[in-house]
Amino acid sequence: MPSLLQFVTLLAGASSAAGLAVPQQRDAGTCRKTKVAVLGAGVAGVTATQALSNASVTDFLLVERNGYLGGRVAHTTFGKKADNTSYTVELGANWVQGLGSPGGPENPIWTLAKRYGLNNTYSNYSSMLTYDHTGYVDYTDIMDEYDDAYDIAAADAGFLLSNNRQDPSARTGFSLAGWKPKKDMHAQAVEFWNWDWETAYAPEDCSFVFGISGDNLTFNQFSDENNYVWDQRGLNAFIYGEASTFLVENDPRLLLSTTVTNISYSDSGVTVTLEDGECIEAEHAICTFSLGVLQNDVVDFEPPLPRWKVDAIESFEMGTYTKIFMQFNETFWDEDVQYFLYADPQVRGYYPVWQSLDAPGFLEGSHILFVTVVGSESYRVEQQSDEVTLAESMAVLRLMFPNITVPEPTAFLYPRWSLEDWAFGSYSNWPVGMTLEKHQNLRANVERLWFAGEANSAEYFGFMHGAWFEGQEVGERVAAALGANSTAYTKSGRGHHNTSSAMAHYDVLHGTTWLKEYNAENGWPVSSFVDYDTSSD
Ligand SMILES: Cc1cc2nc3c(=O)[nH]c(=O)nc-3n(C[C@H](O)[C@H](O)[C@H](O)COP(=O)(O)OP(=O)(O)OC[C@H]3O[C@@H](n4cnc5c(N)ncnc54)[C@H](O)[C@@H]3O)c2cc1C
Ligand SMILES: *[C@@H]1O[C@H](CO)[C@@H](O)[C@H](O)[C@H]1NC(C)=O
Ligand SMILES: *[C@@H]1O[C@H](CO)[C@@H](O)[C@H](O)[C@H]1NC(C)=O
Ligand SMILES: *[C@@H]1O[C@H](CO)[C@@H](O)[C@H](O)[C@H]1NC(C)=O
Ligand SMILES: *[C@@H]1O[C@H](CO)[C@@H](O)[C@H](O)[C@H]1NC(C)=O
Ligand SMILES: *[C@@H]1O[C@H](CO)[C@@H](O)[C@H](O)[C@H]1NC(C)=O
Ligand SMILES: *[C@@H]1O[C@H](CO)[C@@H](O)[C@H](O)[C@H]1NC(C)=O
Ligand SMILES: *[C@@H]1O[C@H](CO)[C@@H](O)[C@H](O)[C@H]1NC(C)=O
Ligand SMILES: *[C@@H]1O[C@H](CO)[C@@H](O)[C@H](O)[C@H]1NC(C)=O
Ligand SMILES: *[C@@H]1O[C@H](CO)[C@@H](O)[C@H](O)[C@H]1NC(C)=O
Ligand SMILES: *[C@@H]1O[C@H](CO)[C@@H](O)[C@H](O)[C@H]1NC(C)=O
Repeated sequence: MPSLLQFVTLLAGASSAAGLAVPQQRDAGTCRKTKVAVLGAGVAGVTATQALSNASVTDFLLVERNGYLGGRVAHTTFGKKADNTSYTVELGANWVQGLGSPGGPENPIWTLAKRYGLNNTYSNYSSMLTYDHTGYVDYTDIMDEYDDAYDIAAADAGFLLSNNRQDPSARTGFSLAGWKPKKDMHAQAVEFWNWDWETAYAPEDCSFVFGISGDNLTFNQFSDENNYVWDQRGLNAFIYGEASTFLVENDPRLLLSTTVTNISYSDSGVTVTLEDGECIEAEHAICTFSLGVLQNDVVDFEPPLPRWKVDAIESFEMGTYTKIFMQFNETFWDEDVQYFLYADPQVRGYYPVWQSLDAPGFLEGSHILFVTVVGSESYRVEQQSDEVTLAESMAVLRLMFPNITVPEPTAFLYPRWSLEDWAFGSYSNWPVGMTLEKHQNLRANVERLWFAGEANSAEYFGFMHGAWFEGQEVGERVAAALGANSTAYTKSGRGHHNTSSAMAHYDVLHGTTWLKEYNAENGWPVSSFVDYDTSSD
């Protein structure tokens, strides 16, 4: 599709230069009018707008504070190649997680990664060496112990879900399954690698049932593969590609570099106020701001959101995941290996997961290594200076490679997700004590103000595909609320949800959710017990 790709390039170029926003001529004191205001142009916002467009709702405005499409799918230039040009590295989302298996459903992000030819490579979690403060130490046998206990825990979580039992923490679930890392720092590193590195939280802070069911729904339903995207256009090339199916060049319906400050809503419409004082009057609005943005009160809602909504927003967790990139003048680590796991003797999660982009199939010859921290270590590292983080991480590398003179990096960079006021964190996580009904309150619309985004996906929270499914569903629901011709879109959606109505919410919450309430109306169209993978023995 050369013409489409060419257009994508044009669109990307235009956005990074002057922005696609076109100031509208209008009388002072009046708001610009539209049928649907889609707030935020990340995966959810762009997908919601595409769903509207698919249902022939073309009177929309897509409002985004950044100067690009993609939100938390964000990249930057880093380091140098031999020809002195830079590499592109992803600061946010990086893996397509759970691809799809023959005969089974496919992750929509994988479909799009293939459609736009994104360069990606299978992340081989067995291509890993283990270290501690004494250097290389093989403790991979502990991985097998974890895996055995995890299988027991997963079945236990399934029992709790199907029998309407109280949800404990993942820590409790693991302990009951016989996994107790306690004071063994090697075991703690193994646990971090298997759990925190995905959820951005320690097992103490995670729902057992929804942590396990979430893992099932992505990795059993689609496939257990995680493919790392290293495409030098940036991962958001797929978002530009999809946007180009419903936006034209310099489309006046796309307002980049435009910040929303106030949202006033009722049962007859929504008025959105922008930072520059301008306003948009819409019949409906879809807010896709991150959970972190909603929790940090950066947007003022009028009237204030109801108690049931605020309770859900404050209950869900926003995690932070920080990738710290380093480029060296040489590859002093094993260039065939993808991962290097470090167990610190004192602090769990202290510069634990090191990943090589020099490994076969990635950015070979780049000499780029990055280390990931999450949770409280992310908050600590993101608050301190580059110099302090550089010194700490280099000290760890020198412990891991005691026999090598580890050179200082030639480039060093990391994002500070917890401090970005358009994200306030990386992605959401399900805490202990939140039921499916309370989560449904996170999703539900309040009058004509609708919500979408990764956190709103009960089944795929945290993932790009969660943002995609929520964007699609809410776009379809709003199109239905506008009385649009529905035959065009019910087929593309999973077709389970009730598009004829507003989303259910619960004014009164109970301690648990009955199995029969795990249904599409509560955001649970697919069972977490189904294993679509027919390729294994
Ligand atoms: C470090 C990191 C690693 C990740 N790794 C993966 C991964 O490997 N695989 C995976 O599937 N997912 C991963 N994710 C999660 C994935 O990025 C998100 O689930 C997904 O991109 C969220 O999309 P969204 O549309 O819900 O939200 P967002 O992308 O946050 O979109 C919301 C948009 O709203 C805009 N906005 C916010 N406030 C305002 C305002 N006041 N006015 C106007 N606009 C505003 C924001 O700028 C943003 O563009 C990762 C995320 C991070 C940060
Ligand atoms: C819109 O329709 C196109 C073409 O059928 C499809 O590829 C795309 O996934 C649809 N978008 C959504 C959000 O359903
Ligand atoms: C890259 O930059 C260095 C330093 O400026 C210079 O010496 C070298 O010749 C450049 N290499 C190329 C290929 O341009
Ligand atoms: C993953 O890495 C391990 C260890 O190096 C290797 O044995 C295995 O063949 C690799 N798997 C794939 C699919 O590349
Ligand atoms: C997760 O999947 C496993 C394996 O299919 C199953 O035994 C377990 O019951 C499932 N757990 C949940 C919570 O869905
Ligand atoms: C994708 O990978 C191919 C093969 O390595 C390479 O030639 C091409 O430049 C890459 N494209 C991008 C955009 O990363
Ligand atoms: C927007 O919210 C701020 C902060 O609450 C408030 O002071 C201001 O009056 C609001 N503006 C509008 C237009 O509602
Ligand atoms: C480092 O050197 C010491 C002492 O010579 C040796 O015992 C050890 O095995 C070496 N470690 C590695 C990782 O090569
Ligand atoms: C990398 O830099 C170090 C000094 O920091 C130097 O000793 C080493 O020889 C350099 N390696 C290469 C391949 O140039
Ligand atoms: C709805 O759309 C379908 C398919 O595009 C079309 O055949 C049908 O006539 C439309 N119905 C109405 C009422 O517009
Ligand atoms: C859809 O929602 C409406 C309003 O809540 C309800 O009356 C109707 O029975 C629902 N339909 C289905 C199929 O669930």
